[in-house]
Amino acid sequence: MTRLEGIRERLSEDPVVRVETAHGPYVVRLVGGRPVVHHALCPHRGGPLEDAYQVGGLLICAWHRSTFRARDGRTVHGPACSGLPVVPARFDGPDLVVDWPEEPSDATGA
Ligand code: FES
Repeated sequence: MTRLEGIRERLSEDPVVRVETAHGPYVVRLVGGRPVVHHALCPHRGGPLEDAYQVGGLLICAWHRSTFRARDGRTVHGPACSGLPVVPARFDGPDLVVDWPEEPSDATGA
């Protein structure tokens, strides 16, 4: 679990907030008034998804138009072949609590 402090206020100023986490870069945005936390890079070729178009409950990559369902990251339309990692999250007062499915692995092996 990770607590991202002050995210609610930041989302009132910016519709999309990029955060660097132990799990990599992620984006926090509101979809239908609820927080959605998804990986910041498109699974197709790494397009920056903070620039994705948000249409209702869909996220459309600005690079090649892969389309993902925001609530669970499922790919609705390619070229991406794999889904977008989406992590459960909820507001707790001004903060956002993110429930990672597992602890990050130590990529350095140190
Ligand atoms: S990088 Fe996102 S669709 Fe290609």
